Amino acid sequence: MGKDVIIACDFSSREATLEFLDKFTGRKPFVKIGMELFYAEGPQIVKDIKARGHKIFLDLKLHDIPNTVKKSMAVLSRLDVDMTNLHAAGTISMMQGALEGLTRPDGTRPLLIAVTQLTSTDQERMEKDLLIKEPIDKVVMHYAKNAEIAGLDGVVCSPLEAEKVHDTCGKNFLTVTPGVRFANGDIGDQKRVMTPAEAKKIGSDYIVVGRPITAAEDPVAAYERCCAEFID
Ligand code: C5P
Repeated sequence: MGKDVIIACDFSSREATLEFLDKFTGRKPFVKIGMELFYAEGPQIVKDIKARGHKIFLDLKLHDIPNTVKKSMAVLSRLDVDMTNLHAAGTISMMQGALEGLTRPDGTRPLLIAVTQLTSTDQERMEKDLLIKEPIDKVVMHYAKNAEIAGLDGVVCSPLEAEKVHDTCGKNFLTVTPGVRFANGDIGDQKRVMTPAEAKKIGSDYIVVGRPITAAEDPVAAYERCCAEFID
């Protein structure tokens, strides 16, 4: 399974997204479509970007009863996305249902990745709001293990957790890591960041990069710099 740079296309409209992607005339980036764009434009935006030759990570973070998630995943799978995700908090049986739903009649399916604890949830909020008293890194590894038991391909995690996830779930279990910034770049609202080169060194399988590329003066050059540091 190849290392790749995924661009977070956090735009609110089809026009802005396609205008951005038009700049990439050489290598076609793997793109992440999130809730904002998907809810604004519907499934057609996925089909349009796919038709332009991009791989797609559809980041909708499903979390519901197993039967609903299974049926919803079957719909997303027919959109021919390459990767999608859900919340590991939905339990092992929900994750197993999701995998069943995703699997196409010919046996192929998109990669399925679990969100463990959102990085916006810290120890204090987890204890007070969710009544989970264990240390957060233990919770993250437990959820990663559950995802592995359910047969998922990997987890979304901080690059700082990627090494431990691989130690816990094996090196073939994928780590998809946001929170990437160039050395001496603006870190924005991300708290714990790594450069693409550091993410490569600690064994991330995919990096998800938004603003360092989308807000760059030259997005194609910023993307190529990420690829040069992380893949090439
Ligand atoms: O612009 P930036 O590089 O910070 O974008 C990172 C992307 O990864 C955004 O789409 C953000 O929602 C997503 N993400 C994240 N941290 C997580 C999970 C997803 O930054 N823990």
